[in-house]
Amino acid sequence: MSMQTVMVVGAGQMGAGIAQVHAVAGFHVYFNDLTEEKVTAGRQGIEKQLQRQVDKGRMEQDAMQDALGRITPSTSLEDAANVDLCIEAAVEQMEIKKKIFQELDRHAPTTAILATNTSSLPITEIAAETNRPAQVIGMHFMNPVPVMKLVEVIRGLQTNEDTYKDVKAAAEALGKTPVEVNDAPGFVSNRVLMPMINEAICTVNEGIAAPEDVDQVMTLGMNQPMGPLTLADFIGLDTCLYIMEVLHEGFGEDKYRPSPLLRKYVKAGWLGRKSGRGFYVYN
Ligand code: CAA
Repeated sequence: MSMQTVMVVGAGQMGAGIAQVHAVAGFHVYFNDLTEEKVTAGRQGIEKQLQRQVDKGRMEQDAMQDALGRITPSTSLEDAANVDLCIEAAVEQMEIKKKIFQELDRHAPTTAILATNTSSLPITEIAAETNRPAQVIGMHFMNPVPVMKLVEVIRGLQTNEDTYKDVKAAAEALGKTPVEVNDAPGFVSNRVLMPMINEAICTVNEGIAAPEDVDQVMTLGMNQPMGPLTLADFIGLDTCLYIMEVLHEGFGEDKYRPSPLLRKYVKAGWLGRKSGRGFYVYN
């Protein structure tokens, strides 16, 4: 199936990035959230990002207007009646995701694929909420979506071959590189990334090195673009903690136990860039 129209559910940072890359690639996008204010704020963020591309001479003004013109604001999941693919990028709470999938399943055409951008929740369980579990799949974009090349494509237990192939083709149409993985806690990306971040936090907690020094070890020593603590602040410390808890619960192994310092920061409301303070202070 060649996909032309998508719905992105969730107008936060990830949802906006996902909507942006689809609109730029020529897809028509229903950009959905609960309120008009949220959708408008998300759309303004997209416009700002695209304007930067125009200012840098990487995009024509007309192409930007065309891309923005392909984005239709939506506050009703009934708009899924018009789409080939839904990508859910709402909050990481299973009960909320289940409700969204039940509703998308009611409204989307029977041929449509329902994807989730979850960073760690089980695709198989989300799929089981629908009457089309074979057409449910994980499409895990990385932050910042317009920059990062990867889409982790996660097959649930029930996902069929056509769904996988269509989603792979859709990711390639965005200029991304899809990588196929099976459903397991944290998939591959966060199973590998989060324990590294957690371990970096443990070294700070044990007084082995200051955050700046831990980050320098990893940027200068391992050529990582951002040190693990800068990256943790960028992702959000609440998200990091949540994913560590999913890994710890899913595998039951001590090596995934979240650092007490990570818990403490989240309890303090030090969530990283978005709250103005995490391992670093932001203005
Ligand atoms: N949105 C859009 N574009 C952005 C951006 C953002 N938030 N931040 C930076 N960019 C763009 C810049 O415009 C710039 O583009 P040009 O080269 O076209 O001018 C480019 O990215 C490089 O930016 P900078 O020169 O300002 O800074 P940088 O070289 O340090 O790159 C970075 C920034 C791309 C974010 C880089 O630091 C990086 O790759 N960091 C690691 C990011 C990462 O690991 N992401 C995955 C997080 S995990 C995840 O998302 C999954 C999960 O489930 C938690």
